[in-house]
This record gives sequence, C-alpha cells and structure tokens, in this order.
Amino acid sequence: MLEISDNGRTWLLTGPTSSYAIHLTDGEELLHLHWGPRIALADAEALAVRPLPEYWPFESPLDGHEEYPVEGGPRFVRPALSVRTDERRGTEWSFERYETEDDELRLRFGDGGLHITLHYRMRDDVVERWVTLDNQGAALELLRADSATWTLPDREDWRLSQLHGRWGAESRLARSPLTHGEKVIGSRRGHTGHQHLPWVALDTDATEEHGEVYGCALGWSGSWRIAVAQLPDARVQVTGGAGYDDSGLLRLAAGESFTTPVFAGLWSDGGFGGASRAWHAYQRAYVIPDADRDRPVLFNSWEATEFDISEEQQSVLARRAAAIGVELFVVDDGWFGTRTSDRAGLGDWTPNPDRFPSGLKPLAEYVHALGMQFGIWVEPEMVNPDSELYRAHPDWVQHQTGRKRTEFRNQLVLNLARDDVQEYLWERLDGLLSSAPIDYVKWDFNRCFTDAGWPGEPYPQRLWVDHVHALYGLLDRLRAAHPGVAFESCSGGGGRIDLGVLSRTDQVWTSDNTDPLDRLAIQHGFSQIHPARVMAAWVTDSPNAMLNHRASSLRFRFVSAMAGVLGVGGDLSLWSEDELAEARKWVTLYRDIRPMVQRGDLYRLRPPGGGLSAVQYVLGDETVVLAWLQAQSYGEPLPALRLRALDPTASYECLETGEIHRGAVLVHHGLRTGLRGDLDATVIRLRRI
Ligand code: GLA
Repeated sequence: MLEISDNGRTWLLTGPTSSYAIHLTDGEELLHLHWGPRIALADAEALAVRPLPEYWPFESPLDGHEEYPVEGGPRFVRPALSVRTDERRGTEWSFERYETEDDELRLRFGDGGLHITLHYRMRDDVVERWVTLDNQGAALELLRADSATWTLPDREDWRLSQLHGRWGAESRLARSPLTHGEKVIGSRRGHTGHQHLPWVALDTDATEEHGEVYGCALGWSGSWRIAVAQLPDARVQVTGGAGYDDSGLLRLAAGESFTTPVFAGLWSDGGFGGASRAWHAYQRAYVIPDADRDRPVLFNSWEATEFDISEEQQSVLARRAAAIGVELFVVDDGWFGTRTSDRAGLGDWTPNPDRFPSGLKPLAEYVHALGMQFGIWVEPEMVNPDSELYRAHPDWVQHQTGRKRTEFRNQLVLNLARDDVQEYLWERLDGLLSSAPIDYVKWDFNRCFTDAGWPGEPYPQRLWVDHVHALYGLLDRLRAAHPGVAFESCSGGGGRIDLGVLSRTDQVWTSDNTDPLDRLAIQHGFSQIHPARVMAAWVTDSPNAMLNHRASSLRFRFVSAMAGVLGVGGDLSLWSEDELAEARKWVTLYRDIRPMVQRGDLYRLRPPGGGLSAVQYVLGDETVVLAWLQAQSYGEPLPALRLRALDPTASYECLETGEIHRGAVLVHHGLRTGLRGDLDATVIRLRRI
C-alpha cells in the first residue's frame, strides 16, 4: 500500500507488518523518515516536521538522514551517486515530480540533462529499491551509482551479521558489534564471489525468534559493494550497488540510460528466524522462477567420475541412480570438445566424438527411458587457450594490450560484453539444447576476472557491468526459447548466489564442499537469506574425497543433504547392494518430506557447532525435524528440541514411531531425538491429528 500526504511531499509504503516513509523538504532534500513497524500517514507527517539536529560547521545536518546521498554539497558521507562530466563532478539535483504505477513509487530528480529516478516497491514486507539514470545532456561518466542507501533508526549497540567464506567454505555466519566508521564487504572479482554473500543484517538485541532485525540484499551477480557506516552520532546507514570501487562504472552518452540492480530491504520483529522466513517467502513469491514446483532429486557425476567419462559408464551410473529413486541425472564436466582434463576444451560446446560418438541424444534418451530427466554441465563464459574457440578468436577474451593473460585453472574469461561473443554463445547453447532432450543445465563459472581489458573499446571499464547484463540476457533468452529447461547457478560451488541470478535460475550449487558436517554450518548461513528450495546438497562418498577425508555414515550424509534440494554425487558403481537399498529408503523419505522442506517455513531450532543441531520445516498440519549430533560428550543426555509453530492444544502423531505427542508438550518441553555418539542424525515427521 502506498499513501501520499496532501502536499505531495511525504510518501508512506506499508506492507503486512512494516512501513517505510520518506519526505521531501522545502529545500528539496529527500529525507528518510521511518523504516520499521507499521505507522499511519499522520505519524509520518509528524516525523516530517521534526527538525534535523543542529551542528557546528564540522558536521552536516543531512548526513545520516538522506535517502540517497549524492556526491557534493553539504555532505561528508560516502556518496551513493558519483557523476563526472568534463566540467564538474558531483550532483546538485532538484525535484521534478513523483509518479506511481501500481505499487511502485518513482521520485524524479534532475541535474541539468541527467534525470535520476528513485524507485520503490513494497512486496510483502520487503522494500525493493533501485535507481534509473537517464542522460539527456552532454556525455558523462558514472563513477558510482548505488541502488539504495538504507537508514536505520537511532539505537545503541548495533550488531552486524554477514555471510563470509571462500571456496569450499561459503556462507558462514559471523555476527559482530558495529563500531564507528565503515565496514565494507563486496567482490572485486567480476562475480558475486565466495567471500561474501551480498547480504547484511543489523540488530541490537535480537535472538533467533525475537527482536527487530533489518536486512539488506543485493540482486547483482558481478562485482558489488555494500558499505555499512556508523556515523559520528552513531546513526547507521547501509549503501550498496554494482561495482566495487569508484573507478568508473559506465559512460553515458546523450540519450543513454542505466538501471541499477535491485537492493532489497526487510524489517522483521520476529528475530533472525522471522527475518529468514520473510526473505524465503519473498524469494519464493517474487524472485525464483516456478518456485511452487518442487525440485527433483538429482544425481551429478562430478565427484564420481570427474573428467574420465564415457557414454557406457554414465549409463551404468544412470541405471543405479534410477534404481535408488533419482529423478534427474546430470552429466557434469568432460562431455565436450577435447575436455579430458581442465587443460583443454572449454569453449567447444559439442560432444566429444570419442566419448559420445552419436552425441548426447542416445544417453539423454536412455536416461529418459529410465524415468529420469537429463541434465548437462556447461561453463559458457570461459575458454581454455587449448581449444578451437580460442585458436579462432584469441581476441575474444578479456585482456590488456601487450600484457600477460592470467590463467586460473588453465582458463581465460570471455569478454561477454562483446556482441559477437554473446551471439556465439547463444548459437552454441541454443543448438545444444535443441540437439538432445536436455532438461537441466548446470551453468558454472570457475575463475574471477583478472585482466578486465578490452583493447579498442574507448571505455573498457563497462565490461564489468556489461558482462553481467550479457549473462542475464543469455539466460533469459535460453529460458524463453527452452521453457522446459531448468538452470542451476554454480561458480566453483557457491561463488554466484544472489537475488539477481536467483531470478533466472532454479537452484544453486551451494558449495563444492560436500562434507556433511561442514555443510551444516554452510547451510545454516545460507538459510539466513535463501530458502531450502534453491539449496542443492549432494550425498557423496565417505571418507570425503574432495575436502577433508572425514568418514561419516550414509545416514548422516543423507539427513544433512535432505535439508535442501537432495542430490547424490557419490560413485554409485562402488556402492554395495546394502548401501543402495539404504539410499533408496532415504530418497523415498526425502520425496515424502520434500513439500515441507522446499515450500514450508524454516525454524532453526539449534545452530550447528559441537553438539546437537536441528531445523524444523512446517507446512500446514505437517512438520518435519532434521537433527544432527556432531559429538556427544561425557555421556550427557541431549537437550529435547522445543518445536515451533505447532498448535499447543492439538496432538501430533510421529510417523516414525506411531507415538502421539501433545502439542503443548512439544512446544514447551520438547521432542527427544534419541541421537547418540558422534555424527548421528535423524528425521522425525509429525502430523496433526
Ligand atoms: C566446479 C563445480 C563442480 C564441478 C567442476 C567441474 O568446480 O563447482 O561442481 O562442476 O567445476 O569442472
């Protein structure tokens, strides 16, 4: 809902539980008034007449109060917008008008020929903000254009939550007190990055289920930056957008425009858990395509066979996968060009004739005949120097004239900003998807930008932004031309996970780390923002060959992976008949609880870290608890798990034991898990009777 004051200078957006208010002063300063619980328009108007604090000349009264601080004039905060022309730098804008369309509010400002529009849209309790810049004047350089600046209310002792990591250890939750100055996270790598998810949360005293939490998440899959600033008077602002530094984003000639990605903000008074559930519901409703369709159980060949693959050997795996109940069989790397190792073949997207003499069609049809969907791995944005593509077009990669071309994993990055590169990839991928009945594409990105040059292009910096737009354009075009095909975003595991890529992919590869214990912490972090519906998790072999050689039971591996979109990635040709029979039981159980996991509400009952941890998913009258015991010490009895979101006056039947539990007992005294020893795990289903 959008309300506007009679004088057309105060705007109030309201969702089911929260409100957001802005005000334009007589001096044409756009001030932030309120973000938090629902208020009335009269409340916003009362806030609008409260004078700004007065300062000695060394502080600006505007700092910490402006909705979108531009560069220049009486401000000392980090500017959200920085523009340079041949004559001057910075912005001095005046208000042009506001517009509304459905629930979207647009505030239009002008500075000479540059028109700046701030966009606002409330989707449930999530405020989506973005900015468009339309240049009708002389050419200018856009050094920085953040999507939004968020202002928090005056409180003491703010805490910052963030998700940090690296390859094999993504999205780990860290929470620390905010101090004066700035905390800056981001990526200067050309993709979202393993190091930080583009999300922050701020609170003063929240717990898992209580207290106010503010969250901000950016929808952009290239380099990005979010800066959280605690200003001199302890006010806190969060500003963020595409691009890491201010070295230049784009040049806008007369008639050109730029739209920033969306920066979404959420206020919740339901603690960290309530904030996560609101983020999940928002993404399922507005971001993720076809989120009401559950994701199938997949098999992926990577850990089983790596680069050493053939049609015959994949058929053996497919038979075993089908026998344990897998629904989607994915052939990972190694099926194309001369790709028998990571040294060659990237870029040549045609099946390797020695390995697949009649192309992918026979295997795809065989997999379909086994009752499964068929998927493949691609890494379209990359090229091995040892490839047909690179030999034909050495100038198609990002590079600087006369400088070394840095290789990581023996590969270079294609310059997707070039039209000819985009067209090549479109033709190859469209052709591939037309050549065989392919239902699924795992789209990988296995190295960062290092030599982001573009010889001959007058403004090469634009390739950072244009690469992302080209990626989005390709995905959109492929989805439109092949509507039945689902896409997974992968970047050496979780290196490209954000609201931007999630709006055009069906799930993401969470991490190359498939150790089931490490995964609990990675999944705990991931769940702060993104729903289980997109969180792919595989059961692989034990001891874990990729990461740490930790041995764990099939039970522990399955229950860990069942908290997301279940997959199997072990070498099934080596699994015993007993193991295959056990796997089949777990897959059957997963298919039973899948609607709850993928569409239900998540309650994190106990975080991972030493002893007992557990999550609960709730959908209608059904609930399921997944619990893991890392290690039991001193033979101590384990705490019972107090369940959430149950009716205390109802009774619940445990589908595992047939026992009847009273709701009040489950909520106030808890459920006993019966776990023992080290690396034990269980699944407990309860149905209201
Ligand atoms: C990346 C992915 C893996 C696998 C390999 C293939 O590392 O994260 O899952 O697809 O590439 O080369």
